Amino acid sequence: MDKFVIRGGNPLLGTVRVSGAKNAALPAMAAAILTDEPVILENIPQVRDIETTRKLLAAMGAEVELGYGRAQHRTTICCRNLTSPEASYELVKTMRASTLVLGPLVARCGHARVSLPGGCAIGSRPIDLHIKGLERLGATITQDHGYVEASAKRLRGAEIVFDKITVTGTEDLLMAASLADGETVMQNCAREPEVADLAELLNKMGAHIEGAGTPTIRVKGVSKLHGARHRIIPDRIEAATFIIAGALTGGDLNVAGCDPRHLDALLQKLDEAGVKTAHNADSLRVMGDGPLKAADIVTAEYPGFPTDMQAQYMVLATQAEGTSNITENIFENRFVHAQELLRMGARIKIEGRRAVVRGKSPLSAAAVLASDLRASASLVLAALVAEGESIIDRVYHIDRGYEHIEEKLRGVGAQIRRIGEMLPKRAVAPAVRA
Ligand code: UD1
Repeated sequence: MDKFVIRGGNPLLGTVRVSGAKNAALPAMAAAILTDEPVILENIPQVRDIETTRKLLAAMGAEVELGYGRAQHRTTICCRNLTSPEASYELVKTMRASTLVLGPLVARCGHARVSLPGGCAIGSRPIDLHIKGLERLGATITQDHGYVEASAKRLRGAEIVFDKITVTGTEDLLMAASLADGETVMQNCAREPEVADLAELLNKMGAHIEGAGTPTIRVKGVSKLHGARHRIIPDRIEAATFIIAGALTGGDLNVAGCDPRHLDALLQKLDEAGVKTAHNADSLRVMGDGPLKAADIVTAEYPGFPTDMQAQYMVLATQAEGTSNITENIFENRFVHAQELLRMGARIKIEGRRAVVRGKSPLSAAAVLASDLRASASLVLAALVAEGESIIDRVYHIDRGYEHIEEKLRGVGAQIRRIGEMLPKRAVAPAVRA
């Protein structure tokens, strides 16, 4: 199993480039199920979750070409022959977002069989809202042997009010409603930029969607969608992780190829914490030369402070003067990283959904264990400011969502290397055909 060895203390200086958003690329790949024509997606990040989605689609009978490097991180997906509209437990258990194929499969094939995801490191994460929504669209749902089966001759438009805001739930039903008979109005939708990006792709494929990015989305169903070409938006969570890395290490970092409009909640918080930033349309400079001040955060759905940045922000809070309260409102068990940060010398007390972080605490290097994707990123950040050499185990979690993070960080002055048997495949792998 791969590990990272990181020696802390270097300020990050220079330019780091942001990859395409994993969380936008995954639903976009699932959207290809909706048509028998090729869908070409650009700016696909080279991360493990994309490879899992390739396998998932290939197992259904899709043709998936995935090329990196000179092929510009592009995938071409053609779902002409979907011989097996299924998502197996083997794949769903490694990536919960696999459930994104449920809606598109039932809409296109009239039938879908998808493994239920089960628990995960950060909370229970049910998919009941996906299921209820599909039922509203007229699908018959059964659950057996750990799988959910959905069938419908043709889905029909309906009113759907989400009990709770769900990102992949909104995306799943948006895809399903695009091929339904009649109009669907969805309320209390997720407003994440990734939802809007998916709607943009679907509209390019011939869908009629209005309001994506707002709480109410209207979809006029069509009987057929066609192929399209689409460029995935930049990864706002990767960008935000680098911004915090720059601030933490007292660096001067230019985060290139990002969309600062998607980072408002974080930038406002960093301003409160005394971090100077400046941005233009597609890049952001962070200047970490001043002292950090404590500032409280509360995670919320977009445009609130992202839960996917909570762990990384906690590391910043350990280096700020004063007490920061961090409230996690989206997932019930998302403080696992705090235990590892404590081992590095942080002062954190967990009180239910709140973490109270006292700073400033000097961090000292330690051997630590990554438990989930964003928790792993927080440990990398902590190691970048800790005194000595840290070893982070189980970095396969970070490889799920950060493209070659060690190479990107090394490029701006971090001392980080990967050790282990499974060295990462470098970019420019020849196109893979499945
Ligand atoms: C997506 C993101 C993930 C992010 C999360 C919250 C992707 C691939 N993943 O995950 O990175 O952390 O949004 O911003 O885009 N819920 C239910 N029933 C459901 C669905 C969700 O109760 O059917 C609950 C969840 O348990 C959670 C909350 O709703 O408490 C939000 O989850 P959701 O927005 O669905 O997260 P994901 O879409 O899985």
